[in-house]
Amino acid sequence: MTVGDGRYGSDAAYLHAQGVDVIATSLTDERLRYAYEKGHIPVYRAENAERISLTDGAVDFVLCKEAYHHFPRPPIALYEMLRVARMAVVLIEPLDNSKILDGVKRKLKTLIRGDREQQFEPSGNFLYRLNIRELGKLMTAIGETAIAYKGINDFFHGRFANYAAHELNIGALLTHSGITAQNALSRAGLLGFGLGCVVVFKGEPRADVCKALHVAGFKMIPLPRNPYVQ
Ligand SMILES: C[S@@+](CC[C@H](N)C(=O)[O-])C[C@H]1O[C@@H](n2cnc3c(N)ncnc32)[C@H](O)[C@@H]1O
Repeated sequence: MTVGDGRYGSDAAYLHAQGVDVIATSLTDERLRYAYEKGHIPVYRAENAERISLTDGAVDFVLCKEAYHHFPRPPIALYEMLRVARMAVVLIEPLDNSKILDGVKRKLKTLIRGDREQQFEPSGNFLYRLNIRELGKLMTAIGETAIAYKGINDFFHGRFANYAAHELNIGALLTHSGITAQNALSRAGLLGFGLGCVVVFKGEPRADVCKALHVAGFKMIPLPRNPYVQ
């Protein structure tokens, strides 16, 4: 199930195209209905991430991409997503992991894009960036065993938005260069990754899953075990 998939169910449409059996959900279903009628998604429903109407363990996985940081009470949504997921919740979200050059990046964003506000978004919400350490603590407190994490950088400038991403053109070239430069700095530990793909497991992840994630560049973070609970 996707959560916060209100851009015409694009996350579910992608998964559906990969052969995944998926339910698209978002706070309202107008755009989802349109995507359904156009044949892009197989099933949809309106769901508030903070109060999901499904039963416990109703779906295998929940994917929440670029939506968690909009929620007014993010941990409540996280507990809800964990409740309805049987195996894991996958978040693809902005990260809170500032490194030495992040101040410079913020200044560049103001210079290049004219960004004046970096804590609140025009849609009205506080930009709740995910902190991996804090997420690990939340999950340890409810007895979960592991999370997996992979850093991602992106680059967006409105001027390049209409250039084709996979063709040779100035927009694609500058976008790819922006990502490559950030990736190099992030790998050198000088710049925090702007985004992260985080897998929050329910129960112990299987060895083959850990191996596949490792091959895909994820870092496994085992959570501390509580010695007082058998
Ligand atoms: C930036 S869009 C992301 C859409 C899509 N996941 C993507 O990555 O393109 C954020 C979405 O979260 C939805 N949203 C905001 N608050 C929500 C809530 N409490 N429950 C479910 N969805 C919510 C919005 O309606 C919007 O569709």
